[in-house]
Amino acid sequence: MAQYFTNQELKSELRKWKVSIFNNTFTFYTDNGVFSKDHLDFGTRTFLENLPLEEMRDKKILDVGCGYGPIGIVLSKLTNASIWMVDVNRRALHLAKMNAKENGVNNIEILESDCYQNVSSLKFDYILTNPPIHAGKEKVYEIVMNARHYLNPEGKLFIVIRKDQGAKSMINDLKQYYTVDVIAKNKGFFIISCFLS
Ligand SMILES: C[S@@+](CC[C@H](N)C(=O)[O-])C[C@H]1O[C@@H](n2cnc3c(N)ncnc32)[C@H](O)[C@@H]1O
Repeated sequence: MAQYFTNQELKSELRKWKVSIFNNTFTFYTDNGVFSKDHLDFGTRTFLENLPLEEMRDKKILDVGCGYGPIGIVLSKLTNASIWMVDVNRRALHLAKMNAKENGVNNIEILESDCYQNVSSLKFDYILTNPPIHAGKEKVYEIVMNARHYLNPEGKLFIVIRKDQGAKSMINDLKQYYTVDVIAKNKGFFIISCFLS
């Protein structure tokens, strides 16, 4: 099976669709070889609907594994935060740039980066991730456990993960470094918040 994070050779079939979130309509370009190419992923939507948007207003936010850009672009519109988005999938990054433009979002940096590699000199108020489960536990843990090095002292990490993708053991493991709360559960998706303890 072709996996969405190593797909540069896949034939392009650009598509464009609209989605409504909090009564705002967003337009997204997607393509073969990127995560959730036909619709806003239910986990991504659940994530967006449960983040503390008010406290994120005007803050500095990193989305690790941004895909075609839905999390960062929606947050940019709704919170006016400064957004950084990173991914390893060049096609996804190209789409994320198109989508930022299409949705009139300017305060956004979109970079190729394996986890924190190319943002390692920065600190963020929030790090958000819908992590690449297919990349394997080691990579997912690199994202969630190392987030602490790139957070401001009051910073928070938010994660969306499905119960059957190892949410419970991840929560236990996160407690090694963070104060952890499950802030929402919906149809098997857990939304996890992590504060530096
Ligand atoms: C589950 S998808 C989420 C995409 C998007 N945030 C969303 O919610 O629709 C995970 C993303 O992580 C990306 N990814 C995989 N390995 C990565 C790595 N080492 N560093 C950064 N991103 C990675 C994948 O290319 C994919 O776009």
